[in-house]
Amino acid sequence: MEILIVGGGGREHALAWKLKQSPDCGAIWCAPGNAGTEEIAVNVPIPSDSIDELVEFAKARKIDLVVVGPEAPLAAGLADAMRKEGVPVFGPNQNAACIESSKKFARELMERNGIPSPKFQSFTSPEPAKAYVRTLAAEGRRCVVKADGLAAGKGAIVTNDVEEADAAVEACMIKKSFGGAGDAVVIEERLHGPELSILALTDGKHLVILPPAQDHKPIGEGDTGPNTGGMGAYSPVPIVTDELIQTVRRSILEPAVRGMEAAGAPYSGVLYAGLMLCGGAPYVIEFNCRFGDPETQAVLPAIDEDLLPLLLSAANGSLGETRVIPPAQNALCVVMASAGYPGAYEKGKPILGLDKISEAMDDRAIVFLAGAKKDGDQIMTSGGRVLGVTGLGEDFDEAYENAYEAVNRIQFANTYYRKDIGYRVRGG
Ligand code: AMP
Ligand code: GLY
Repeated sequence: MEILIVGGGGREHALAWKLKQSPDCGAIWCAPGNAGTEEIAVNVPIPSDSIDELVEFAKARKIDLVVVGPEAPLAAGLADAMRKEGVPVFGPNQNAACIESSKKFARELMERNGIPSPKFQSFTSPEPAKAYVRTLAAEGRRCVVKADGLAAGKGAIVTNDVEEADAAVEACMIKKSFGGAGDAVVIEERLHGPELSILALTDGKHLVILPPAQDHKPIGEGDTGPNTGGMGAYSPVPIVTDELIQTVRRSILEPAVRGMEAAGAPYSGVLYAGLMLCGGAPYVIEFNCRFGDPETQAVLPAIDEDLLPLLLSAANGSLGETRVIPPAQNALCVVMASAGYPGAYEKGKPILGLDKISEAMDDRAIVFLAGAKKDGDQIMTSGGRVLGVTGLGEDFDEAYENAYEAVNRIQFANTYYRKDIGYRVRGG
């Protein structure tokens, strides 16, 4: 089978790495890909938002399966365009990608289907939004202000008091900090508790649930400082019991998929549930319409099962049964970033040590490249999150040790990484 992977981050490198292991996998094409996908796939210089070009390429190459990595092309209708031309595609249509591209749509779906969520309301002008902030405050609740539309993971502002919430409303609606994405806002009750990402493959009826992961969004150790796309992740998550996964299936994933069908937007692809455990019970913080990054760099190495037949059956509506894939091992991914990220950072630094990793670590660690590109034979930094190092092990500690051993073997100027990925587990 010939596969086209759309995107060019660490997630797409991990997808290519995993799909390449399938006995059914022929050539993999990656648009646009990165220095990592180049090692196992053929990079095609088509940006992930060039829908027409991607469709033309898939038709011309007779691609058997398109796997879409990022949310933006899904929200722009890439999957619809492929389906219209009869190209099998893993990823939701535009009206179903709304589960991520509109926070209001997602919260209303949850409300209609009884999916555990914080209290919320949505607004299209600032004054009533600020009034709701005060209603929540009078009930003793703090709030999170969210731009309704896609804002590259930066559109949720977690606030501590009414003044901060007012400033967040103004940033979205008056200063237009997120452009049109902030024309509408959702204001919701701020919850507290550990976060958890549960990713499930779905054909719109059945769900194949992958091992849970825990992401580390803030830039600083101990989860301090501004949020990033994610600085590290591990899978499975020791606190997550089988019973909890079944609760998530019953009370969150299945009602969401049924609710999408009822809304006239049948959902296929990955359903990513970003959850918070409050008093042990899972609440939905957000749904995403794609694989998580860096969660994918931990979840895929944690499973033995062949991913390709699963993506194909999710794409063509034949998953057949709902089940949970057990982890075969532990995986912990540490993201190495350019100092300054998520703000301004320098690029173009040579990355050293990559060529020695597989020899030094055997199968104990894998490097997934993200913001990295080739300049002749040398791999250079080209983005904020430069790469992810995934350590593997029979238990959490072994995966942790292997990840940081491999991190210590890689150097580039101005490297920044969190030294505490998995601290919740290590802290006991
Ligand atoms: P989102 O873009 O909706 O995933 O939000 C980004 C981050 O903001 C989440 O990973 C949480 O850490 C935080 N967050 C979002 N919504 C809430 C909420 N209702 N309560 C507490 N934290 C939240
Ligand atoms: N790691 C968070 C996300 O992919 O949205």
